[in-house]
Amino acid sequence: MPAHGFTRRRIECRVTRKDSAMNSERKSGADTPVIELRKVNKYFGTHHVLKDVSLSVRQGEVVVIIGPSGSGKSTLCRTINRLETISSGEILIEGQPMPAEGKELAQVRSRIGMVFQSFNLFLHRTILDNVTMAPMDVLHMKRKAAEEEAMKLLRQVGIEDQARKVPAQLSGGQQQRAAIARALAMHPKAILFDEPTSALDPEMIQEVLDVMTSLAKSGMTMVIVTHEMNFARNVADRIIFMNDGTILEEGSPDEFFAHPKTERAREFLASFRNEQRESEL
Ligand SMILES: Nc1ncnc2c1ncn2[C@@H]1O[C@H](COP(=O)(O)OP(=O)(O)OP(=O)(O)O)[C@@H](O)[C@H]1O
Ligand SMILES: [Mg+2]
Repeated sequence: MPAHGFTRRRIECRVTRKDSAMNSERKSGADTPVIELRKVNKYFGTHHVLKDVSLSVRQGEVVVIIGPSGSGKSTLCRTINRLETISSGEILIEGQPMPAEGKELAQVRSRIGMVFQSFNLFLHRTILDNVTMAPMDVLHMKRKAAEEEAMKLLRQVGIEDQARKVPAQLSGGQQQRAAIARALAMHPKAILFDEPTSALDPEMIQEVLDVMTSLAKSGMTMVIVTHEMNFARNVADRIIFMNDGTILEEGSPDEFFAHPKTERAREFLASFRNEQRESEL
C-alpha cells in the first residue's frame, strides 16, 4: 500500500514533485490574486453555510478543496462566479470586485470557467456547437475562427473525432472532456471544477483526471473540489479542508495528507481510507 493509503483508482499521476516545485517557483511571481474571497458569509435562510471564508488563489495555482458532504464546497465554488450571491464579504477577480449584474457580470463570469459533476452540455447541440456557442455569442468570434479553435481544443482533450455528435452519443468521460474544452474556449482566467469525476464510471475517471493534470501542468489556474485523493496529492499546490462552512485547514498536499493538524481532518482522511479498503475487499 502506498504511503498514504489511497489505492482505489490506480492513479499514476504524471506530475512529478520536481515539476510541481518548478511550477510553484514560476507562479510565485504573480502578485494580484486571480481570485480573492474576503470574509465571505453565505446564508440560505437562517442556515449559515459559509462562515467568514477568506481565500486567495494566485495565477497558475491549483487549489484543491476537500471536506465532508454539506461543508460548503459547492457553495463556495458557486459564489466565486456569482451563481450564488453572498450575504457579506467581498469577492475580487484579478483585484476587481465582481460586478453585481448585467453585461459586466456576464463578461467576468464568462472568463471563470466552471465544470460540474453533471457536464451541463446542451443536449440537442453537437459537441462542436457546445464549444463554439459562447465564444461566438459572448466573445463575438466568427464561426470559422471559433470552430478552428474548438477543434484544436477537442484535439487537446482527445475527442476531436466526436465533434459532430450530440452529447448522448458520447461516454460520460468524453462528455466531461467536452465540458472542459467548452470552458477552455472562453480563454478563462481560471476554471472551477466541482466534483468533475463523481458521476463517472470508474474506468472513465482517469481520462478526465489526465486532462486536468495536463491543464494544471500548462499553468492554468484551477480550483477543484474532488474526492480523488491521489490526484489531489499529486496535482494540488495547496489543499483546503472545509468543515461546517469554514476553512479548517490549508497547506501543501504533503503537509495535509501526512500531518493533518485537526482531529476533524484526521477523522475525514481515516474514513476515506476505510471506505477504500472496504471497496477493495
Ligand atoms: N440552494 C440551497 N438552498 C438551501 N440550502 C442549500 C442550498 N444549496 C446548498 N444548501 C445547503 O448548504 C450546505 C452546503 O452545501 P454544499 O452543496 O455547498 O455542500 P458540499 O460541501 O458541496 O457537499 P457535497 O460534498 O455533498 O457536494 C448544505 O447544508 C446544503 O444543504
Ligand atoms: Mg458539492
